Amino acid sequence: MEKILVTGGCGFIGTNFIRLLLRERDYKVTNLDALTYAGNPENIRDMEGHPCYTFIKGRIEDHDLVSGLMEGVDAVVNFAAESHVDRSIKNAGPFINTNVLGTQVLLDCFRQAGCSGPFLHVSTDEVYGSLKMEEPPFREDNLLKPNSPYSASKASADLLCRAAWKTFGTPVVITRCSNNYGPYQFPEKLIPLMIINCVEGRRLPVYGNGMNVRDWIYVEDHCKGVLAAMEKGSPGSVYNLGGNCELANIEVVETILRLLGKPRELIEFVKDRPGHDRRYAMDTSRAERKLSWSPEIDFETGMERTVRWYLDHRQWWRRILSGQYRSYYREHYGRGL
Ligand SMILES: NC(=O)c1ccc[n+]([C@@H]2O[C@H](COP(=O)([O-])OP(=O)(O)OC[C@H]3O[C@@H](n4cnc5c(N)ncnc54)[C@H](O)[C@@H]3O)[C@@H](O)[C@H]2O)c1
Repeated sequence: MEKILVTGGCGFIGTNFIRLLLRERDYKVTNLDALTYAGNPENIRDMEGHPCYTFIKGRIEDHDLVSGLMEGVDAVVNFAAESHVDRSIKNAGPFINTNVLGTQVLLDCFRQAGCSGPFLHVSTDEVYGSLKMEEPPFREDNLLKPNSPYSASKASADLLCRAAWKTFGTPVVITRCSNNYGPYQFPEKLIPLMIINCVEGRRLPVYGNGMNVRDWIYVEDHCKGVLAAMEKGSPGSVYNLGGNCELANIEVVETILRLLGKPRELIEFVKDRPGHDRRYAMDTSRAERKLSWSPEIDFETGMERTVRWYLDHRQWWRRILSGQYRSYYREHYGRGL
């Protein structure tokens, strides 16, 4: 494996993944990203000029473009996606275009170019649906029962990957990961949103009663899991990745308040998200056994690093908040200005 096409490398996880690759390996990396509202070329600008890195602006649904880029590529890592559940509830169209059609275009072009593989598809725990508190964590053989347009589009992509493996023998590997946090996360997601609102003295909008449980993983641990799956995963396999760190949303928000020395009174409980999944939890034993991977960063350490990063990179998020995202942010999350 020498040449890798990474999609969505200007987003949160893709940025961290490319940085890991360029730091720890000598693969030639092409980053294909459409630079949607969530894609930020600044994230990775310091890598431009690196002899192993090329950036191409474009969409994964663009068959001609993708087909040309696949020439000489060994592996693909597909991060490109519309990724925010709330936006998928308002308008599912872009989620179907990118997450479903885009993945199929990548699979077709990968096969037509005769790439050796693997085709690593980055998926999510949300494809499994919601767990009751007493149920065991998701395993890779759980049924897919997605509840939001976002998770349904991701589950559809997973099934298209499975079909490519079964029908054509395309060497597909799927990773499904729990909730990530860390540097470069777009400020509409829970943790950066709460950090920023806290720093700015705004209210912290928490859905429902704040008791929805998520498993939290530091983004670098996720990236190492994806790399391990790319290098050691068996074609046709799925690997769950997670932080073994189940927390209610309110506990996450309280951690941020504590780290920033802010009062609990900033919390504002708001109307719950429709179809809000109660709990996600991951059984990661397959990845631990087969990929010799496990998460290394505990939540307290990861959160200290994350809060420090957002404090040290105010210009990064202030530019986002003053750009095209400004009106969406004000409408949805900017109460208490
Ligand atoms: N964030 C999480 O907690 C989490 C957890 C599990 C899985 N995932 C998955 O990981 C992947 C990356 O998530 P993220 O949080 O970094 O998302 P993100 O929204 O921060 O980044 C997505 C990136 O994809 C690009 N993109 C969007 N549509 C595109 C298109 N049509 N063609 C090319 N590029 C396009 C965007 O410009 C952006 O750079 C997604 O597939 C997501 O489903 C995320």
